[in-house]
Amino acid sequence: MCGIVGYVGPEPALSRLIEGLRRLEYRGYDSAGVALLEGKTVWTRKRVGRVDALDQALGDAPESTTGIAHTRWATHGGITEENAHPHCDGSTGLAVVHNGIIENMNALREQLESEGVVFRSETDTEVLPHLIRKFYTGDPVAAVRSALRLVNGTYGIAVVFADHPDLIVAARLGSPLVVGLGDGETVLASDPQAIVELTRRVVYLDDREIAVISRDGVKVERLDGRKRTADVTVIDDDAYGVADLQGFPHFMLKEIHEQPESIQRCLRGRLQLDEGNAKLGGFQMDPRELVRIERIIALGCGTSYHAGMTGAMAIEALARVPARAEVANEFRYRNPIIPRDALFLAVSQSGETMDTLGAIQEVRIKGGNVAGVVNVVGSTIARTAGKGVYLHSGPEIAVASTKAFTSQVTALMTFTLMLARTRNLSLEAGQRMARELSAVPAKVSEYLHNPGPIEAVADTILDARYVLFLGRGFSFPVALEGALKLKEIAYIPCEAYPAGEMKHGPIAMIEEGTPVIFVAPSDVHRDKAISNMKEVQARGAKLIAIHTAGDHEIAALADVSIPVPEVADFASPLLTVLPLQLLAYHAGVKLGRDIDKPRNLAKSVTVE
Ligand code: G6P
Repeated sequence: MCGIVGYVGPEPALSRLIEGLRRLEYRGYDSAGVALLEGKTVWTRKRVGRVDALDQALGDAPESTTGIAHTRWATHGGITEENAHPHCDGSTGLAVVHNGIIENMNALREQLESEGVVFRSETDTEVLPHLIRKFYTGDPVAAVRSALRLVNGTYGIAVVFADHPDLIVAARLGSPLVVGLGDGETVLASDPQAIVELTRRVVYLDDREIAVISRDGVKVERLDGRKRTADVTVIDDDAYGVADLQGFPHFMLKEIHEQPESIQRCLRGRLQLDEGNAKLGGFQMDPRELVRIERIIALGCGTSYHAGMTGAMAIEALARVPARAEVANEFRYRNPIIPRDALFLAVSQSGETMDTLGAIQEVRIKGGNVAGVVNVVGSTIARTAGKGVYLHSGPEIAVASTKAFTSQVTALMTFTLMLARTRNLSLEAGQRMARELSAVPAKVSEYLHNPGPIEAVADTILDARYVLFLGRGFSFPVALEGALKLKEIAYIPCEAYPAGEMKHGPIAMIEEGTPVIFVAPSDVHRDKAISNMKEVQARGAKLIAIHTAGDHEIAALADVSIPVPEVADFASPLLTVLPLQLLAYHAGVKLGRDIDKPRNLAKSVTVE
């Protein structure tokens, strides 16, 4: 999704801006641009496509020590050079980059056009430079503030002015911005990932704040003029770091193979094997508060929703607390009922997904209790929730989420143990559960060393017109996650269904040779799953079964058998999802897809 970088300092801005854009590439985008201050005007260059294309077009760029840059993920207006950011006013005296959506752009545009303004793009963003110019009488902050008063929607913006060559003005409402404080230089970004190589001392902007950024640092005010002190946070977490492939051909494959370690990091210091319990201090809830929780609602999108579903099932099954997961944007807009005795879990890798953020803001407005299950430390969702658990997965660069899923499930299982111990889970059962969780990283590693015939399965589904993923119980969200991965990475048409529901529709899609991928570990659903396998086989399906090692009956029944190491039922998603991640990866590679940056997708979706 869109990314912003800004630099003010003594050094040439351009190389730092391009480096920052490269560090944001993983978020997904379709064009890029840069603005540098040059004498009495602003110099801009934009290109459709990758940051490389922009970089190659910068031979005549001016030497400048102040600039802003952007990667655009198209919303309003097609993927063209005109629509790429930065956008300038008519006299190129100022330039704006913008993340978010200006919802009243039509009314603002009509008004500006009636005043003689000529628009060059189809974007919502372009109203901003023209509005700022309209109010500009020499004071950049006053002009930005006046313009933003007229705007409805969301924004994270950065503005440079030709006649203030050492200044960037930034403002935020709904789209994240962070200012990094260096030694005589100051940087701005929509994601700390872009600037952590330059500095780890940062100031996060909050909604309705405006920042004046200079070499000396940052001054932050509320948009309504009230002052606020710019609290400095030091980022010392491993969620940001050098995006290095370490010999792997793609980040997705690297991240799949990091899972033994990332799950281990998520568990470290949290499991209490002797007490048969878990300690998640970030929830800021002692047993007396935990015991008052009467229901849990997990909110998330995409992969995080699937992790939330898995966690909700475990909470109901093991802690016996009613729990469910909801797609965040559907939940948000139906005037949801927020029970006073409920705990809402905001599940998000990036901590910036607009739909999830909007949902928890609605929960909080209605007085609800929210905790985050988030990877990126200091992200907007983590800060808005104010409590919860960090995943400590390390940076996830590939757009398709893999290690964040297993860490989210691990964190939710750990929370389940803590919650269950305040209810009816005995010491012995708690000890067993803690031991089973602590054994997972080694079993994940064991599977990844011997993944089975994944590449052969990939070959058989490359030309499929339809692939069906099936699972029961804990394996249904895994089936959903497997189908999501295959769509995201390989663009192969597929869907996932609860296996018992399959006979109520999808069975009509099965013909001779249709691949059916069945997630069927040796849990309470196994025998029913075998019946469903026979049903699809009777109709000609090619059955690919993911099952527990040693289950010879399923291995013999399936056309292709993929065994995974045995674990407790509740932990099975942490094993059964692995072959599905690898399958999507290998199918994508064989089809020549752009694995780490699949078409149309974004790593962090900061618009609705
Ligand atoms: C996007 C990504 C998905 C991700 C979802 C939720 O759609 O492409 O991989 O699962 O957003 O993101 P979050 O950062 O909230 O987990």
